[in-house]
Amino acid sequence: MSTLIRGGTVVNATGAVAADVLVQGEKIAALVAPGFEVQADTVIDATGKYVIPGGIDGHTHMEMPFGGTSSADTFETGTVAAAWGGTTTIIDFAVQAKGTSLLSTLDRWHGKADGNCAVDYGFHMIVSDVNDTSLKEMESCIDAGVNTFKMFMAYPGVFYATDGEILRAMQKARETGATIMMHAENGIAIDQLVAQALANGHTDPVQHGLTRPPELEGEATSRAIALAKVTGAPLYIVHLSASHALDAVTKARDTGQNVFAETCPQYLFLSLEDLAKPDFEGAKYVASPPLRPKEHQTELWRGLRTNDLSLVSTDHCPFCFKDQKELGRGDFSKIPNGMPGVEHRMDLLHQGVVRGELSLERWVEISSTTPARMFGLYPRKGVIAPGADADIVVYDPTAEQTLSAATHHMNVDYSAYEGMELTGKVDTVLSRGKVVVDGAGFHGGAGHGRFLGRDLNQYLI
Ligand code: URP
Ligand code: ZN
Ligand code: ZN
Ligand code: ZN
Repeated sequence: MSTLIRGGTVVNATGAVAADVLVQGEKIAALVAPGFEVQADTVIDATGKYVIPGGIDGHTHMEMPFGGTSSADTFETGTVAAAWGGTTTIIDFAVQAKGTSLLSTLDRWHGKADGNCAVDYGFHMIVSDVNDTSLKEMESCIDAGVNTFKMFMAYPGVFYATDGEILRAMQKARETGATIMMHAENGIAIDQLVAQALANGHTDPVQHGLTRPPELEGEATSRAIALAKVTGAPLYIVHLSASHALDAVTKARDTGQNVFAETCPQYLFLSLEDLAKPDFEGAKYVASPPLRPKEHQTELWRGLRTNDLSLVSTDHCPFCFKDQKELGRGDFSKIPNGMPGVEHRMDLLHQGVVRGELSLERWVEISSTTPARMFGLYPRKGVIAPGADADIVVYDPTAEQTLSAATHHMNVDYSAYEGMELTGKVDTVLSRGKVVVDGAGFHGGAGHGRFLGRDLNQYLI
């Protein structure tokens, strides 16, 4: 079975060229000069459109247990939504509960995802119980293709790790080549601020933002960087939201340290003002770190241009407004933390191109190529090149769309971007050579997506 994607502009991180793309089975077979005669079973007309490598979202939480509930997208609904938005690979987080082993955790997550994903998927491992067994098990996880380990400086009593525990895990990462991912917020100080706010009767969602000040993200980020420096471990800061944290990352990168960071669309497009919406509406925007005052956005866009922010992931972690966010009415600290977004990352970042904030190539780099390298999937993913998986998005840069819960495919009852008008839209999506989305609708299904055992970080300095 062969497919020719004809007439488009192929955009890779390294440049854009007019070329046709020949797909044979699950792989890209060739890039062909325009007008060159090629036989194929099917032809997709990409005239006037970009042909880009499928998006890779390196940070999602499908069916994730949190605060007595579970994120609303299953691996099936979440990956179908991802496909609609041009994301053909997700990397989700297996979550170690305290007192359980990493390997049993990995088994449980395979049990949730295997056979249920519509696009390819991998796992990171959340380490919440650092002990001799867990540290040893990190080696087995790496052998099983899971070599990125997330730790938390936030959420005392749940996921929180002490500096000593972080140091030990980083030493293991240094020894094995693994990368430590860090949720960098000073949870000990934050918990005091939260308790004080509640004691003073401040219960609204905006308090979530006010009790998690950017200084405490900056401080934790600096501390994580210091621990990584001492141990020699590569460090990846997840969901960076504040200029304070970006400054710390920039400084470390200027010294040549293997420190990387992602930001998320919500920090580029939304702000503390959303969290302050009346009538509990702000609960829709509760995620950690919190949305920041608008001025941080300018710094984050700059960071994306300078590569101090290496890539953009969504931290997709949806909770329904009606029956889940509601758990925190009257006590903001009980609002499940997380926002939906897996479907709209490619489109939102494309606005950066439209506004002249990002080049076309940088758009592809931060949404696909760098994630592929950072998470050990290159050149199988993240590039339009012969031999790569045929994960391809035909993208219409001029189509207009309005984001809305009424039309999105995520299993959540609101959109954080309700009514936002965007330029550019996914036209056709191929996942390993199969057309899963086109103008006629969705043609993929649960079970098409395969588990990706990943190589070690290919993006180290
Ligand atoms: O609020 C968030 N970010 N929820 C998802 C879990 C995490 O910390 O990434
Ligand atoms: Zn986190
Ligand atoms: Zn997350
Ligand atoms: Zn619901």
